[in-house]
Amino acid sequence: MLISSVDKCRLPQHVAIIMDGNGRWAKKLGNQRLFGHRKGVNSVNAAVEISTELGIKHLTLYAFSTENWSRPKDEVDGLMSLLVSTIQDQTPKLNKNNIRLNAIGDLDSLPAAVNKKLMNAIEKTSQNTGLVLTLALSYSARWEIINAVKEICKEVQQGKLDVEAINEQSFPLYLTTREMPDPELIIRTSGEQRISNFLLWQCAYSEFYFSPVLWPDFTKEEFIKAIVDYQGRERRFGKTSDQVKV
Ligand code: IPE
Ligand code: IPE
Ligand code: MG
Repeated sequence: MLISSVDKCRLPQHVAIIMDGNGRWAKKLGNQRLFGHRKGVNSVNAAVEISTELGIKHLTLYAFSTENWSRPKDEVDGLMSLLVSTIQDQTPKLNKNNIRLNAIGDLDSLPAAVNKKLMNAIEKTSQNTGLVLTLALSYSARWEIINAVKEICKEVQQGKLDVEAINEQSFPLYLTTREMPDPELIIRTSGEQRISNFLLWQCAYSEFYFSPVLWPDFTKEEFIKAIVDYQGRERRFGKTSDQVKV
């Protein structure tokens, strides 16, 4: 599917991806799981490039969940070093393409070297005005929501916030995604059809696209297919079809 199939006037502002299937991809070839994670970096680059080419404003990638800490130590260590080397390699390209790096999740729980490299890259790209590339790292939506609730409770206790002022508009300002719109489209690769603790508040009205393709095989074409599929849907937000037809 070609880029010309995309209606540039009806682009999602925010696409979020649950990048899944690296391990299975590697196993299929008789390799270690880490081989799949390494190959997955190419698909990350492709998704970033096509998002920039299309003019999508926000791309959020679920790279490591809080639950992923329970994987074998070798895999976790391998993923962390892959993260460091990828950030190192890609930062000049991010700057060249005017991309701002951002991260959400319990970033303090990352190894110090990873945290430092990440903060450094975020700082180095902070003036860029094009695509906002957000990595969800040590991220869990329940953790995020609990943190928001704690923050709100503190402000109420200190008399800074009126309980009556807590509503659907003010609550998300306490989430790590406060600076971005909710994702209109969430893609999950590898055929799994679940949310795995990703953006639970923010996905209230997201469109979901489940691709059978394993993440290392997810090309720009596959990304375009997802966008075109999304553009063929009618988003009703509780209204009737007649009400939303233009
Ligand atoms: C996604 O691929 C990457 C991460 C969760 C870090 P997986 O590692 O989950 O691959 P599968 O699902 O086992 O194939
Ligand atoms: C979800 O993938 C997390 C990321 C893509 C980073 P998992 O492979 O960890 O999800 P489950 O455990 O199969 O739900
Ligand atoms: Mg998986």
